[in-house]
Amino acid sequence: MAYKNEKNYLTKNLKSDEWYTPIEVVNYIKTIVDRNKKIICPYDTEKSEFVKAFPNSIHNIRDFLEKDYKYDICITNPPFSLGEQVTRKILSQGKDCIRIIPATAIFSVNFYKFIEEYKFNYKIYSPDKRIYFIDENGNQNRPNFHSIILHISKDFTKNEIIHFKLKDYEEVKDEKMGI
Ligand SMILES: C[S@@+](CC[C@H](N)C(=O)[O-])C[C@H]1O[C@@H](n2cnc3c(N)ncnc32)[C@H](O)[C@@H]1O
Repeated sequence: MAYKNEKNYLTKNLKSDEWYTPIEVVNYIKTIVDRNKKIICPYDTEKSEFVKAFPNSIHNIRDFLEKDYKYDICITNPPFSLGEQVTRKILSQGKDCIRIIPATAIFSVNFYKFIEEYKFNYKIYSPDKRIYFIDENGNQNRPNFHSIILHISKDFTKNEIIHFKLKDYEEVKDEKMGI
């Protein structure tokens, strides 16, 4: 999608679907996901850290909203413009999901409506710092909003908020390179 330098009215960031999730967030998600579940990463290609972390996931697809895939959990940071439709699709299929969303989204009217309609429990993982997403040029950018990891699962019987320390990008890169 080409936004031609338009700014998001809420975040004041340039509108783009090309914001990638950094490795330190994906590494944390690896620690909370049940690896016995069939994972789908519908908005990811081989370049994505999610696909590197979950190579056996269903990925590289363009028709998640149109087609019914067989999966247990959807792990995704979808295009901003499709976020609501994606959540609705996952919940209407009765599947689990892990999504990265702005913290304020939890307190939105839409989120309340989702709970009313689909009756789910969730865990919220809130990092100790802003998540710096990566742009098309590989640069990390500090957004002016706090992001959280939202985990919805049929296995949960109550809602929980977990505060955690997110490793620094550089720290994770150094660990990967064995420094
Ligand atoms: C916010 S980015 C996140 C990328 C990746 N999921 C991550 O977190 O690193 C969303 C991605 O979805 C891709 N995309 C847009 N429309 C799509 C569609 N209909 N099906 C699959 N991918 C799509 C965009 O090109 C973009 O790379």
